[in-house]
Amino acid sequence: MLVIVFGAALLGVEAYLIRIEVNIDRGIAYHLVGLPDSAIRESSYRISAALKNSGFRMPGKKITINLAPADLRKEGSAYDLPMAIGILVASGQIDSSTFDKYLMVGELSLDGGLRPVRGILPIAIAARDRGFKGLILPLANSLEASVVDKLSVLGANKLSEVVQYLRFGTGLKASPATGAVVLEDIPGDDFPDFSEVKGQETAKRCLEIAAAGGHNVLMVGPPGSGKSMLAKRLPSILPTMTNAESLEVTKIHSVAGKLAENRGVLNRRPFRSPHHSISSAALLGGGAYPMPGEISLAHNGVLFLDELPEFKRGVLEVLRQPLEDRFITISRARAKATYPSSFMLVASMNPTPGGSFLGENPDLSSIRSAKRYVSKVSGPLLDRIDLQIEVQSVPYEKLSAHVGTESSQTIRQRVSRARSMQECRYKVYEYLHCNAQMKVKEIRRYCTIQTEAQGLLKQAMESLQLSARAYDRILKVSRTIADLSECEKIRTEHLAEAIQYRGMDRLWI
Ligand SMILES: Nc1ncnc2c1ncn2[C@@H]1O[C@H](COP(=O)(O)OP(=O)(O)OP(=O)(O)O)[C@@H](O)[C@H]1O
Ligand SMILES: [Mg+2]
Repeated sequence: MLVIVFGAALLGVEAYLIRIEVNIDRGIAYHLVGLPDSAIRESSYRISAALKNSGFRMPGKKITINLAPADLRKEGSAYDLPMAIGILVASGQIDSSTFDKYLMVGELSLDGGLRPVRGILPIAIAARDRGFKGLILPLANSLEASVVDKLSVLGANKLSEVVQYLRFGTGLKASPATGAVVLEDIPGDDFPDFSEVKGQETAKRCLEIAAAGGHNVLMVGPPGSGKSMLAKRLPSILPTMTNAESLEVTKIHSVAGKLAENRGVLNRRPFRSPHHSISSAALLGGGAYPMPGEISLAHNGVLFLDELPEFKRGVLEVLRQPLEDRFITISRARAKATYPSSFMLVASMNPTPGGSFLGENPDLSSIRSAKRYVSKVSGPLLDRIDLQIEVQSVPYEKLSAHVGTESSQTIRQRVSRARSMQECRYKVYEYLHCNAQMKVKEIRRYCTIQTEAQGLLKQAMESLQLSARAYDRILKVSRTIADLSECEKIRTEHLAEAIQYRGMDRLWI
């Protein structure tokens, strides 16, 4: 007898429907076809033990299972459940009229229990869009799926519970759909606070601008000046994510298998700080079956690269394309996947190999060694960093003073206001949430500057020998500075401040 059950495969951050055809015939054999990987091939052992331990048996006949479409590579253990159900129905061990109305995913353990799988959020979206009656999945995954509205999510602990539900319609309860994402306004309570950083007004202002518009930042300064300290406090001032942004982030973390069990939607902007020994594959994503890398896990959040010149040059160079395009396509022999990677790059470095800035009249050899050091970070990469600042050591008087500095909460309120203005301005664009994400067309439309400011920009371009890319980036930063002062028009002072954060690249090259 031939039966058809439905499962799903992941490609990038999207899920695709897989038809699982199970045919049982005379003879004794087990064939699995349709580009399965080794985890799926091994499923016969898991299914056989799980069936036995749930009170059923593996039919001693010729079982042929085809996963269609055959050209899409399938991987992982999420097909265990639909395959087991297909075998039970095809061998006549259970009688059900509804088994093909549901999309099913889940890994089986030998005792018949159901283990969680990755990528549930995109799978749930696919189940809803394809009009399935419901999604049957491991209980530990049900909260993640219940984010999707208009979908009945049925979480089960064991294979036997699924069987009972398919036969009699009892035993499983649909978890209430949380529908739209519930977003609380999370204060940065558990993050370290900016009030602990003494002095460093320029650096703080820069991070505020960066957080408001989603811009890239580079902090250059001697050891112990507080660069790492400042960067670690950035999450405490980042604006909350919109529903759309939360879903984008959760999808990526779901596909990467990074969501904790019983966890719904991620509503905090990610902050990723990989070590400088990271490989290009771990940073960009990769593997025989593509998986999201650090740049995609940092989507809508921050990628912090501490001690930038310590990263391998090749690793930094591969960042150039995703920094510009805000997505990454990973091609492998077996599959090709695209992941979003719209992150804020925050980097820190010392100005010289010795750590401190060059003094007043440096000798030739120290200039040479300083140049060699900073040249580890290439010009094109530097060009993509909107805000570049020197972080000087804080003098003793400031460090020991007990004057109160602004708390993260106060800064965050300003950042959030500026971000709401942007959300409102860009609500017609699906891909645009903040100023840094503007493309040329939007820059021309929303970053018009007054005539007197144009002279200033021309002068800056010439004296700092800035590139056309730097020109666009200055305009975007000016837009954010104007948003922070709640101005619809970009004024000369906004532009002047943006230019001021841009002088560093020419100093080195
Ligand atoms: N502005 C500051 N206010 C208060 N404490 C500070 C400040 N700057 C540095 N510190 C103290 O110095 C410590 C070291 O700072 P941090 O690690 O941020 O330096 P860094 O600039 O990252 O140095 P390196 O280049 O060596 O990585 C901090 O943990 C903090 O205790
Ligand atoms: Mg540091």
